[in-house]
Amino acid sequence: MTQAKAEIEALVKELNYHSYRYYVLDNTEITDAQYDLMYGRLKELQSKHGYTPLDSPTERVGGKPLEKFEKAQHRVPMLSLDDTFSFEEALDFDRRVKRLLETTDDICYSVETKYDGLAVELSYEHGTLVRGSTRGDGFIGEDVTQNIKTIKTIPLKIQGAIVPDEIEIRGEIFMKRDDFVKLNELRQSLGDQPFANPRNAAAGAIRQLDPNITAQRKVQIACYGLGFVNSIPFSSQDGLVSWLRDNQFPTPHIFEVVPNIDKALDVVKHIGKIRESLPFDIDGAVIKVNDFKLRETLGARTKEPRWAIAFKYQAHRGVTKINEITVSVGRTGTLTPVAILSPVSIGGVTVSRSTLHNWDEIRRKDIRPGDTVIVERAGDVIPHVVEVLYRDSAERGAEFPAPSNCPVCGSDVVKEAADDEVTEAAAYRCIGLNCSAQAIGRLKHYVSRAAMNIEGFGKKTIEMFYEKGLLQSITDIYKLEAFKIYGLPGFAEKSVDNLFVSIDNSKKATLARFLYALGLRHAGEFVSKTLATRYKSIDELYHIKHEELVETEGLGDIIARSIAEFFNDEKNIQTIEEILSRGVMLTNPDYKSINGRQPGLFGAILPLNGLKFVITGTMPVERKRLEALISENGGKVTSAVSKETSYVIAGEKPGSKLDKATELNVKVITYEEFLNLLNK
Ligand code: IVH
Repeated sequence: MTQAKAEIEALVKELNYHSYRYYVLDNTEITDAQYDLMYGRLKELQSKHGYTPLDSPTERVGGKPLEKFEKAQHRVPMLSLDDTFSFEEALDFDRRVKRLLETTDDICYSVETKYDGLAVELSYEHGTLVRGSTRGDGFIGEDVTQNIKTIKTIPLKIQGAIVPDEIEIRGEIFMKRDDFVKLNELRQSLGDQPFANPRNAAAGAIRQLDPNITAQRKVQIACYGLGFVNSIPFSSQDGLVSWLRDNQFPTPHIFEVVPNIDKALDVVKHIGKIRESLPFDIDGAVIKVNDFKLRETLGARTKEPRWAIAFKYQAHRGVTKINEITVSVGRTGTLTPVAILSPVSIGGVTVSRSTLHNWDEIRRKDIRPGDTVIVERAGDVIPHVVEVLYRDSAERGAEFPAPSNCPVCGSDVVKEAADDEVTEAAAYRCIGLNCSAQAIGRLKHYVSRAAMNIEGFGKKTIEMFYEKGLLQSITDIYKLEAFKIYGLPGFAEKSVDNLFVSIDNSKKATLARFLYALGLRHAGEFVSKTLATRYKSIDELYHIKHEELVETEGLGDIIARSIAEFFNDEKNIQTIEEILSRGVMLTNPDYKSINGRQPGLFGAILPLNGLKFVITGTMPVERKRLEALISENGGKVTSAVSKETSYVIAGEKPGSKLDKATELNVKVITYEEFLNLLNK
């Protein structure tokens, strides 16, 4: 056991090191497959020897969903920051600090990026993460430990030499813009309401009762502060940040220590200049007195410390009027209310439409045509209405309820129950089979970058081709004829050629992309990839049974049902075959076959991954124990022998299952032979 223990601990250390390189430093030394192999070996050893270190990466896989979050009291209140919007106010802050410290000397400040997310506290005891909590009202938050553990950049154990017995680290959870856009795309493909901004999406991920969902959402953390500490091994903000970095905590992307306020403002200006190019939203910069002793002298007001301020950049906002509210229909039929605005320039971009997200949002903010509103746009995020600035009763239109018929095709609209803990908004869906908005939406999705990536096939082109009757369904893309396109607006000879080159170039695609492009309900990028990992080619999915799919990790009942429904519809199979017959060539680099076995959801190759067992007869160990051993090692136990069964484990006095196995030519093994499989 001691030798096994040593191997387990060495693997944990090694895997954590590579995970840190991958997630925090974005600089890997090994391939995913090598990582997966080590992970598989670790999981195997842990279950064999019943020993799992607290900081094992296997502990990051979420546990059972909670009923509700427990309350978490903060030993040191989590304060907020005073906001300033001008350099003048920032200079006032510096004067106030000097006055309170009774000095005329320059003050040394740190300046760092201010994240627009959710503040959390990470509590470590003897170096081990014991609790993760949200800020709440500053005094009492929520215990979100399970969710926090799924964030791969947060150390489960602090490895360094100088680690206080008790230390609480504070930071901000946020989401990168492209992960946010992807998440919203996925949500829309699932028919869920999109999140309004990355902050809500990050907060939503942390406040999920089911940690498995948090584990699938990509969130980041930047650590910048302290809560309770029993002894502090540093005496300044730069000391803290160095210590955090040494101990593999992600820290603010921009962090500078400067000798005086003027230099601090230079950094603030610099951050303001480059902020659009950062891959995430920041809403400002934080200026902090660097020295902790000085901070102690300065103290805090009720809600904010006197030693720091937030310099807020002007959000990209504009004020304009809503002329009209319309409804847009997505490819799955989901209806979204959209405000048509008097055009307004925001940060150099003219905005004339803005999403209103959903009808609950319209009611909550009481938005109507004629209202003057504040519109915000951040990065690539679709502009949205922040709030109504004023309501002129003479100009106000009527309330805007969800329509009962699709505004595009006239079919019935059904209301679907709110299924989201965060937006808690009901979705409205057009059920028309021939709805042109849905058809156009499906085409746009098919050609989009994450799908078949057909360049130069923009929204306008699709709409025009659709209206001209050149393009009704996906297969039509491959039947386009140059002479019918030539001469249409924007299509001179060169652009016609370019379009055909793009279509040809897109014909070499991966199975995962193609599955995603088909736009099956509930099959976003993640699910498509999961399918591609398990099924080598698309025809393996034809006529697939729900019972088989549901056994794939990562596919729940609803997803499996929707996929099975799609692949059991002859028309869909014909469509796919037609696309393939027109030259679309699918490769599948995602398929992971190790002696015919596929890895599990997180890529781990467990010794029994993909294998199905039937047990018959009396075993030398309790039946439950054997079943647990099989499932811990990635295998499945079923009760009836079928062609799908990999092995029948036969003990003493086997029943009729043994005959069935012989009849179907299924391998029969003893308990000892089964144990050998585990050690392979
Ligand atoms: S320091 C005692 N540093 O902004 C004050 N806060 O508007 C501790 N925030 O509650 C906060 N990035 O949630 C600090 N680099 C950063 C930050 C940051 C984001 C958040 C934090 C705070 C809020 C105040």
